[in-house]
Amino acid sequence: MKLHSIEQNDTYLAVDISGTVSRFHYFWLRDNCPDSRTSNGQKLHETNLLSPDVHPTSVAHSEQAMTIEWSDGASSVYPVSFLENWQYDHANGETDRMVLWDRDIENRVIRHDYEEVCRNPASRKLWLQDVAAYGVGLLKGVPPVEEKIFDVVALFGFVRDTNYGRLFEIRSEENASNLAYTPQPLSLHTDNPYRDPCPSLQLVHCLVQAEQGGLTALADGFHAANRLRQESPDAFDLLTRHDVTFHYESEDAVLDNRDRIISLDGAGRVRKVRINNRSIAPLKLPFEIVPPFYEALSSFRGILEAEESQFLFLLQPGDLMLFDNERVLHGRAGVSVGARHLQGCYADRDGLLSTLKILELNHD
Ligand code: OGA
Ligand code: ZN
Repeated sequence: MKLHSIEQNDTYLAVDISGTVSRFHYFWLRDNCPDSRTSNGQKLHETNLLSPDVHPTSVAHSEQAMTIEWSDGASSVYPVSFLENWQYDHANGETDRMVLWDRDIENRVIRHDYEEVCRNPASRKLWLQDVAAYGVGLLKGVPPVEEKIFDVVALFGFVRDTNYGRLFEIRSEENASNLAYTPQPLSLHTDNPYRDPCPSLQLVHCLVQAEQGGLTALADGFHAANRLRQESPDAFDLLTRHDVTFHYESEDAVLDNRDRIISLDGAGRVRKVRINNRSIAPLKLPFEIVPPFYEALSSFRGILEAEESQFLFLLQPGDLMLFDNERVLHGRAGVSVGARHLQGCYADRDGLLSTLKILELNHD
């Protein structure tokens, strides 16, 4: 990578790096002078206080760096790697780790060994990379003892406490207060969509497996949302434009979160999916929107629940799944017979991704 030439224009510089010309506005360059950031990436000046007319009084370069003297007296050095990395003039194939999946994931996602993941940071990296790519990473060999799940969270982040406590139990109960605590199937869902923010990661650890049934179902909500976009664009639009309310009420908590079923980022890519039949409140949408909205929800659910969308497997004692609660929908397939005990907790995605980036820097 070499800096070949720089052409000065009225409001920007056109910089030729190894044959590709990228334009950089003066104001952008002055604001993003690498010397005015600390090593933790934080800016040292107020952008607001820069003159909107700031411009170079001199521009020089070697093959490796560009040096600018500025009209406000500042002097900045831009290494070629900085310019290459941050150029905004061409799409630079933003690296997106995400790999969308359907039932074929059963041939791709592997169960990582807990002992190995604890002992070896390179193995821990592979497990967390699965979460970043597929939205789910599986472990086997997590001792099936109460609260062991906390040791697993500590491998990448912190527990997100909720009204259910730091940990929640999934067991069949008599007179259950929640469908979750019965042996009945549970349709695919996001947990705690009534919280703001909704927990971004969930862990479920199996201590006792049912004598029969109690299969786990997972589906990639992003893949399903993209299919909906292709197959029924109007339905997709409705689910991305109208908010619904998710609601939960008990003696010690009244929670409401109003949000889209499918949320997009600024570039129109699917970034969050939330669906939960148990906790969606009565729809309160414009009169004429209610019927098509129900239809759109039903189409989305149809895609999610199609056989080809679902990864069905049995969590056995010692198995633990860590998944993105705003991407991968989970549920329980079939009625379970006999005692069954799972423990779950929530955590935050940003902490996991931070741990992963550090592991990637140190254990390539
Ligand atoms: C839940 C849940 C899964 C299971 O309780 O929210 O998703 O396998 N349970 O019981
Ligand atoms: Zn759940």
